[in-house]
Amino acid sequence: MEIIIEADAAALAKRAAQVVFADLEKKPDLVLGLATGKTPVGLYEQLRQKPDAFAKVRFFNLDEFFGLPPSDPVSFNYFLHHHLIKHVRHDPKNIHLLRGDVGDLEAASRETEVTIKAVGGIDLQVLGIGGNGHVAFNEPGSSLGSRTRPKTLEASTWADNMKGMDPTKPLPKHAITMGVGTIMDARHLLMLASGAGKADIIREMVEGPVTSEIPASALQMHPRTTVVLDEASAAKLKRRDYYKWVFENKWRVGQK
Ligand code: PGA
Repeated sequence: MEIIIEADAAALAKRAAQVVFADLEKKPDLVLGLATGKTPVGLYEQLRQKPDAFAKVRFFNLDEFFGLPPSDPVSFNYFLHHHLIKHVRHDPKNIHLLRGDVGDLEAASRETEVTIKAVGGIDLQVLGIGGNGHVAFNEPGSSLGSRTRPKTLEASTWADNMKGMDPTKPLPKHAITMGVGTIMDARHLLMLASGAGKADIIREMVEGPVTSEIPASALQMHPRTTVVLDEASAAKLKRRDYYKWVFENKWRVGQK
């Protein structure tokens, strides 16, 4: 894992955008997996500054609430169009976002795995972490080898997602989510976390044991993960100074 610690959420967003643009420069038809939540919003603001860079990108995403159509403003599909896709040059045939309004979630899950394979696999997957250690909607106890499938949300995840929402319109308690194994197959993972509320779980994800109790801890086994944090979310890392030292003194290909 490469751990990069930035001063605040704004600097985190800029650094994360650099990571995405660097991969895009190497591969303009990048297969890019997107994430939802509060954390990547700043990243998407940065990505919108270079709208032409996405003309050939193939877009996927991590998860979606069961039952919600892409036209529903609460759906993740809508969120990703609203924050990124509608602002950048894109080819509609390259949009492979999950839909919640499919009758058969299991069949849709199998199809997602087939589509990811058909495009040659995900090159770069953006990720966030839940306060309970979930990655996508892989809640604690999810198999670290799991594939795309229907999932019941943990009560805390459901409550987090309900924050600020109309209580008379409760969110679904089921979702379709890429599995931990599906995520681990991506060539490059970009995990973002911001704010003091994530400090404990970041410590467990980075420095704790690999366990299905913290599904995001599986990232320790991935050969190429970039974790971008702000000072607040990095505050409880035991080896925080070491990560900073390594980043400042990073070995670069071709250096003399
Ligand atoms: P957040 O969500 O970015 O809103 O904190 C992250 C997650 O639950 O995966």
